[in-house]
Amino acid sequence: MGKVYFIGAGPGDPDLLTIKGKSIIDRADVIVYAGSLVNPQVLQGRKESAIVHDSAGMTLDEVVQVIGDAVKRGETAARVHTGDPSIYGAIREQMDRFEAMGIEFEVVPGVSSFVASAAALKKEFTLPDVSQTVICTRLEGRTPVPEAESLESLAKHRASMAIFLSVHMIDEVAKRLTPSYGEDTPVAVVQRASWEDQKVVTGKLSDIAEKVKEAGITKTAQILVGDFLGNEYSLSKLYDKSFSHEYRAAKI
Ligand SMILES: C[S@@+](CC[C@H](N)C(=O)[O-])C[C@H]1O[C@@H](n2cnc3c(N)ncnc32)[C@H](O)[C@@H]1O
Repeated sequence: MGKVYFIGAGPGDPDLLTIKGKSIIDRADVIVYAGSLVNPQVLQGRKESAIVHDSAGMTLDEVVQVIGDAVKRGETAARVHTGDPSIYGAIREQMDRFEAMGIEFEVVPGVSSFVASAAALKKEFTLPDVSQTVICTRLEGRTPVPEAESLESLAKHRASMAIFLSVHMIDEVAKRLTPSYGEDTPVAVVQRASWEDQKVVTGKLSDIAEKVKEAGITKTAQILVGDFLGNEYSLSKLYDKSFSHEYRAAKI
């Protein structure tokens, strides 16, 4: 029997694929990748004989069949997802099917688009005295979100927020966040973070919807919200010279 590897391909820039992910892709016999989002360049080092499938037009049954057949032939299969596969990757249902079939699998993490977006903006989600929490969420659309996780209830924490899969509903996102965050809270929208055509729009909850529409951004974007995008914060204790810890005595 062969083995299946779920691989996080990263946000777009092929150099953000992990070394481990690349070495598995390069030796895989069968590759099933999410063609709507994964940069095909991450597959460039594959074997000439590797069979490649784009999962965009496939069902769960078809993905499981193609990979299951390969593994039964003793081959290595790479299931390549965008960003990190544990976030909106729909990998659990695949893993459970392989588990039931007695097929061995492993998950190789990747750089998620929400951290790639923070990098593009040169911002830190967890600023002292601003926020020590990052909420990753989405607005309900054709796929529901549990009621207890409504945007309004999450907004009450005023934590740093990364909103996936929702930029086409930016009006509604801004409207529903405003009562808790306030209309002056900074927002950044990053489309195709780390790709060559990456686009960044910054604003406030009061004007971001208009700016995003003007920029023509309708998909593949992160909406980052919170005061971590602003310029007021406290310095960390970790590097404070009057603060001692396990690795350093206080230096004053
Ligand atoms: C199905 S989810 C997959 C998320 C992925 N697993 C991750 O960790 O980034 C697709 C959504 O992720 C976000 N996304 C994916 N790639 C992106 C990128 N390069 N820049 C900004 N957002 C991206 C968008 O919100 C998009 O609608």
